[in-house]
Amino acid sequence: MIRRQFKITTRIPDETQKLGKTIGKWIEHPLVIGLIGDLGSGKTAFVQGLAEGLDVPGKYYITSPTFTLINEYPGRLSLFHIDLYRLDGICDLEDIGLDDLLYEQAVIAIEWAEKMSDSLPADHLTITFEIAADECRKISLIAYGHNGVNLIKALEFSRNRIGNAD
Ligand SMILES: Nc1ncnc2c1ncn2[C@@H]1O[C@H](COP(=O)(O)OP(=O)(O)OP(=O)(O)O)[C@@H](O)[C@H]1O
Ligand SMILES: [Mg+2]
Repeated sequence: MIRRQFKITTRIPDETQKLGKTIGKWIEHPLVIGLIGDLGSGKTAFVQGLAEGLDVPGKYYITSPTFTLINEYPGRLSLFHIDLYRLDGICDLEDIGLDDLLYEQAVIAIEWAEKMSDSLPADHLTITFEIAADECRKISLIAYGHNGVNLIKALEFSRNRIGNAD
């Protein structure tokens, strides 16, 4: 399995959103994105940008789907935003209906993805958010499979436009 890593530090919320937007614009194929990081580390901020990049209409305001578990938004590809925070223990694809979603032309962004890390599809992107200071977030992306690896390569080419790459 081909794999590639990219690290970046954002200094304000807008930069984290911009990272999401940049990736969203480049996405052409269905993709599962696992988002990992503490409360308030920027997972939802990233998904807000991702939605913009996927041309989700601006009338949709993206918040953590904490009580609904899954929110779906229309865009160039459908965006499914999942939040596993309130789920007890480890879950698998079937528990949250993800096995069905994988057949859709969709981007699936999963907050607290570590709760199902063993059952994510082989091809996916993992993004880990670390709170380094008040407004400073260390973000580490690891792509597994060609689809995500190509996105990382594109990020490497444009790193200066997004934030302060490590
Ligand atoms: N560089 C940054 N990137 C992203 N968010 C930042 C940054 N600096 C400060 N923030 C703030 O941190 C918070 C991030 O909130 P967000 O909802 O995105 O976190 P989350 O990881 O989704 O948390 P939760 O697990 O509760 O859903 C916001 O209040 C945002 O303004
Ligand atoms: Mg959130």
